[in-house]
Amino acid sequence: MTQRVVVVKCGGAAGIDEARVCRDVAALVAAGDRVVLVHGGSAAIGDLAGRLGVPLRELVSPGEVTARHTDPATMEIVLLALLGKVKGEILAELGRVGVRAVGLSGLDAGLIRARRKKALRAVIDGRTVVVRDDHSGRIASLDGGLLTTLLDAGLVPVISPPAVAEDGRPVNVNADRVAARAAAELRADVLIMLTAAPGVLADPADEGSLLTDFRLPGEGGTPGHVKGGMAAKLIAAGEALAAGVELVVIADGRAERPALSALAGAGTRVHPPVDLPADRPAPAAPRRRTVPPTQELSPRNR
Ligand SMILES: Nc1ncnc2c1ncn2[C@@H]1O[C@H](COP(=O)(O)OP(=O)(O)OP(=O)(O)O)[C@@H](O)[C@H]1O
Ligand SMILES: [Mg+2]
Repeated sequence: MTQRVVVVKCGGAAGIDEARVCRDVAALVAAGDRVVLVHGGSAAIGDLAGRLGVPLRELVSPGEVTARHTDPATMEIVLLALLGKVKGEILAELGRVGVRAVGLSGLDAGLIRARRKKALRAVIDGRTVVVRDDHSGRIASLDGGLLTTLLDAGLVPVISPPAVAEDGRPVNVNADRVAARAAAELRADVLIMLTAAPGVLADPADEGSLLTDFRLPGEGGTPGHVKGGMAAKLIAAGEALAAGVELVVIADGRAERPALSALAGAGTRVHPPVDLPADRPAPAAPRRRTVPPTQELSPRNR
């Protein structure tokens, strides 16, 4: 059996069931897959910020992609919530279901390096302004060799932001893009992004409007019905597809078997733009094509 490389991104929004995601990671590992788990933590960040009285703000780019305004106080909250709370909970849960996992952020051995954004353009009250106190960055590199070493040792890497900037200090990066970059570096077979929605919806207010397939627009950007965190997710999906990841699925992290049902066809399968540029670089390594089914699912679990 060819071992699949599966990158699972567990969203941190309220409603996503980390324990179920961990149970599915255990099932994949037991079936022989090499699994990397990436997590966010928006609910935990919001909760901790509320308890400590730190106001959180969002920045909306002129392209309508939403990002966290990571001022110095927010960076402290991000570190405490992701590294101090969410990662510990996930590692404990993975341990309970028999998975040997190692928690990492971008700061560990320089796993994720980013270029600090000098100034951000954001739209506030309809006007484009420049924000200068933001500690966020663009991912420059992610050390796939370190992940391979851990996977070879039979371990499941559990990764989250922040990344480390040129000055050695942490900068926030979007966890979906961390997952996409990890999938790209590992030439993963599958990237599953689990969130608090059934997938990409035609109408974000209507959970019944799931699009089972979504083709990314060729000119970049996202259509009007995709907003906020989902717009960032589709950008990340596009990055993974452009790097040669064959299967990218956005699916419901609230489902009974979130990752297994995503592999069995639930959620939204994201497709690259039809008009790929002719000079699109080929994946550096040959693609594995054997993707064995991990587990049969009964219809009620789909
Ligand atoms: N067209 C759409 N279809 C589905 N969800 C959408 C759409 N437009 C906006 N959204 C919102 O995007 C959210 C997903 O992104 P969000 O960043 O909130 O979650 P996450 O990435 O899973 O969590 P975290 O950021 O903590 O890792 C959905 O819960 C939904 O509210
Ligand atoms: Mg998000």
